[in-house]
Amino acid sequence: MYNVTIGDDNMINGSTKLACLIGQPVEHSFSPNIHNCLFEKYNINSKYMCFDVDKDSLKDAIMAIKALKINAANVTIPHKVDIMNYLDDIDTNARLIGAVNTIKNDNGKLIGYNTDGIGFVNSVLDKGYEIKDKKVMILGAGGAARSIAVEIASNNAKFIEIRNRSIDKAQNITNTIKENFKSIVKTGDISISKEDLENIDILINTTSLGMSPDVDKLPIDKTIKLDKEILVCDIVYNPKETRFLKWAKENNLDTLGGIDMLINQALEAFYIWTGVRPDREYLSQVEELRF
Ligand code: ATR
Repeated sequence: MYNVTIGDDNMINGSTKLACLIGQPVEHSFSPNIHNCLFEKYNINSKYMCFDVDKDSLKDAIMAIKALKINAANVTIPHKVDIMNYLDDIDTNARLIGAVNTIKNDNGKLIGYNTDGIGFVNSVLDKGYEIKDKKVMILGAGGAARSIAVEIASNNAKFIEIRNRSIDKAQNITNTIKENFKSIVKTGDISISKEDLENIDILINTTSLGMSPDVDKLPIDKTIKLDKEILVCDIVYNPKETRFLKWAKENNLDTLGGIDMLINQALEAFYIWTGVRPDREYLSQVEELRF
């Protein structure tokens, strides 16, 4: 047997399976750190690698996954939508989201999932908050907003309001929710008043406002003072504490940052592939995962 040693006791042998990320660019992904740590912790003989795939090569990449019997994959920008054309089956919520970020190879059948919104929901639940029967406002109506809206509707949120600069994109998401779930929906523009916020339990920023290097931007008026206790979430993870989360803290509100969603979407993918629910706490102890 031809063995290669990586690090101390990380052996690759003839039975080693491969999991991979398909995207472009992929160099700065945290996924290899997370999944290789988890494979090692749970004694799963598998390695995770990133592949930089051009748009024109996506179909070939999928054929390679099948031919090489790669049993697990993540998909990232710019392939999350186009990949759906090449899969054998797609999970119901991923179909409603219209994008796939996780693939399981089930004996040659490639099944697509989307764990982004589930990662967000699990982050909220981990923090001890409920989604069921809650009133939620989402700022932004891009891909991330859509995955979060579908999953919080799937978790029986009572009311989902989507606020976006381009109202048609917000309506597109609420139409999907109306047709498939029981949550009450509403759309509006991005100018948020104190009264709007007093009517909700959870506020989520999915716009790119506040992302490095534009760290001073935020999606609401920072002079708003709020008495009601709401959970304020930002999916932006760079910087770790955005201006939006600082505004929440100035108002003594509980906050959830984007890194939790990032980790939880990976943990959900790991669960889909392996059936193992990983220990979230373990990851926070691993030096190279201290984001
Ligand atoms: P993602 O896939 O991460 O959700 P996206 O699809 O590019 O990213 O969505 C980005 C979101 O940020 C959109 O809702 C966008 O608003 P528009 O739909 O009107 O473009 C929002 N956004 C980006 N820059 C913004 C700005 N300067 N002001 C308000 N909203 C902004």
